[in-house]
Amino acid sequence: MTELAIIGGSGLTSLRCLEVTRREVVYTPYGEPSGPLTHGTLCGKAVVFLPRHGYGHTIPPHMINYRANLQALKQIGVKKVVAVAAVGSIRADLVPGSIVIPDQIIDYTWARAHTFFEGGDTPVTHIDFTHPYSAELRALLLKGCANAGLACSSQATYGATQGPRLETAAEINRMERDGCDIVGMTGMPEAALAAELGLAYATCAVVANMAAGRGAETISMVEIEYNLKQAMENVRTLLEHVIPLI
Ligand code: HPA
Repeated sequence: MTELAIIGGSGLTSLRCLEVTRREVVYTPYGEPSGPLTHGTLCGKAVVFLPRHGYGHTIPPHMINYRANLQALKQIGVKKVVAVAAVGSIRADLVPGSIVIPDQIIDYTWARAHTFFEGGDTPVTHIDFTHPYSAELRALLLKGCANAGLACSSQATYGATQGPRLETAAEINRMERDGCDIVGMTGMPEAALAAELGLAYATCAVVANMAAGRGAETISMVEIEYNLKQAMENVRTLLEHVIPLI
């Protein structure tokens, strides 16, 4: 059984080094995930891959069926999820290309199906979310970075915004005052849904650009794409070093 899943984000719609064995269409009570699950082996280890935005990168952050994605992984027996996500950087030292393993989250998203616990016949259920990411998986990602000789930042708060537009400079200033270090559009409700299902979950964030008002006068989408292309090579290297440890 495949216990490890990798959810790919922008810039990582395929895992080149994955030796694909089969694709699996999974239906869930919450609808369809972003695409069929791709099963394969990476560094000799069974891995399942799911591109969050679909294989053609067509599903925007606010339209992703996060519940179906996590539920599909749970249904096939996955226990651990490494989520790769492109982010903007609010901190001057986290330049484009940086790898960040965040340890906290602030959620600014709205109107997303964000829980499996919707009442009905089941009792009201709350989960502890003090530490939103799995300490064990984070430690392995950090070790993988060290083994691969990749610099990474291990203390960062991920601010999850609604998108699909990027933020205003004032919104980024507010997020900085709140304590956010990086900003992305897909970190929530993904992390919380993983926690509700009891999946170990950690994020490998890749800085694609300086956030609004922090770098160039305006943010160039071409530049984001260029930076991501470069940075995802590092993510692939990291995955090759971390997967044998998991
Ligand atoms: N803001 C939100 N999400 C992002 C950004 C950003 O600047 N860059 C990549 N994903």
